Amino acid sequence: MRYFTYRSLAELEAAARAVGAVHVRFVHDRTRVQELLSRKVAVGGFLTGNSMAIHPMEGCDGTLDGKPDELTWRRYERFARGGAKLIWFEATAVRADGRANTRQLMLDRNTVSEFARLVEMMRRVHREEWGTADDLLIPVQLTHSGRYSHPVRVIAYHNPLIDQKTGTPPDCPVISDDEIERLEDFYVDAAGLALEAGFAAADIKATHGYLLSELLGAKTREGRYGGPLENRTRFFRNVFGKIRAKYGRRLMLCMRLGCFDGVPYVTDPETGLGKPLPYPVPYPWGWGVNSMNPLEPDLTEVKQAIRWFQEWGLELLNVSLGSPYYNPHLGRPFEKPDEGNYEEPEHPLLGVDRHFRVAGELQQEFPELPMAGTGYSWLQKYFIHAGAANIEDGRIRFVGIGRGALTYPDFARDVIEKGELDESRVCKTLTYCTYLMRQKHNELGQFPTGCPPFDKSVYGPIMKQARETKRRMQGN
Ligand SMILES: Cc1cc2nc3c(=O)[nH]c(=O)nc-3n(C[C@H](O)[C@H](O)[C@H](O)COP(=O)(O)O)c2cc1C
Ligand code: SF4
Repeated sequence: MRYFTYRSLAELEAAARAVGAVHVRFVHDRTRVQELLSRKVAVGGFLTGNSMAIHPMEGCDGTLDGKPDELTWRRYERFARGGAKLIWFEATAVRADGRANTRQLMLDRNTVSEFARLVEMMRRVHREEWGTADDLLIPVQLTHSGRYSHPVRVIAYHNPLIDQKTGTPPDCPVISDDEIERLEDFYVDAAGLALEAGFAAADIKATHGYLLSELLGAKTREGRYGGPLENRTRFFRNVFGKIRAKYGRRLMLCMRLGCFDGVPYVTDPETGLGKPLPYPVPYPWGWGVNSMNPLEPDLTEVKQAIRWFQEWGLELLNVSLGSPYYNPHLGRPFEKPDEGNYEEPEHPLLGVDRHFRVAGELQQEFPELPMAGTGYSWLQKYFIHAGAANIEDGRIRFVGIGRGALTYPDFARDVIEKGELDESRVCKTLTYCTYLMRQKHNELGQFPTGCPPFDKSVYGPIMKQARETKRRMQGN
């Protein structure tokens, strides 16, 4: 279904009012947009050169042993030249069994020197374009893919609805406490390697349904890492503590935190729209959910956890929502679903509104902790106006863009130089990038992903090949 039909900011603004997206507001004045997005941001002891961020965007294009490959280099060169001063480096596994696909990046002794070369390149080209890289912050996102690990899933607990949606058998073993404790040391080692590679910051990723995000919602899990909030946050307390003890303040600690899991959605066969799987009330699982109405966030525990994370050393937070595997409309409001997935169950403006509401509430609760907000790409060229309004109101410190950066890696330059974006270059949220990410049927076991419609010369042929080989395999 086509939602984004607006020919002006005024039309989009009227639509936001009409659907009740009260947190989606806009700064109209171009100069003011420039000023707000060019604001420097203090992050711990660091000062970033502006308020624009590129979210972590996996390209599924590493070598089989986890090193950055040709397309990885290309992507980060484009991002580094682009002008955003916070470039959040994509999900990078801390060990082999935590990789989501055969081409996911992995930080270990064997790969660290390639990461160092890549970071050095990013800083060099950024300096060439912008005079300095001293105000460019590049956190690396450390991950264990948990339930979505390839080839063997690792789960923190059973949520029967997520099990149903992801084909997880009810007798699938749950990772043991001892194994979780051993995993802590892999994160600590990876943090040391991140430092060695030249990253100034490490993100202990806890979002999108991967292992650590699942752990936060493991209310029904027994033992040291489940049940009460103290137990569900134990992993972070231990990892932050060990990193601080080992590396002091040389490495900044960050998190991409999923702040609302929601419930799994499936396609309604009659309408093609997404609908939630039937759920019990009270809802005993999940993170940031209102147990009496799990379609709604409840940030009480999330706020308590952020308070602790800060005590343990957190200096920068990236706010996200939902899971791309079971409720993609929460995390990435879209015009068109990826092939075979459900159509938007709500007006995408309400999805954007939810992002702004949650991130705004958290940023206002913790004004001293800089946060990066998500959910902007659907707004197309007007996202900068919405981001500027959020910054102006103290409801976010960084305006972050995910898919939009694949189509338009140098959007920040146009903001800085012109105060407006080029309509022909903005992401139209058509979701081919997610489609490519899900394609595994080539000799490497994974197709690389990027933007086929707007980065055509590179990803057009990849898309064509993925489609044709799939059709041939299906015999039509
Ligand atoms: C192809 C693709 C790769 C992604 N890779 C990551 C990732 O590595 N880590 C992460 O936290 N989120 C990842 N995301 C989610 C984005 O960072 C972002 O949260 C999401 O796309 C919503 O923001 P947007 O509306 O600006 O695109 C990915 C999304 C896409 C489409
Ligand atoms: S394929 Fe391109 S236009 Fe479509 S959602 Fe991804 S980045 Fe945006």
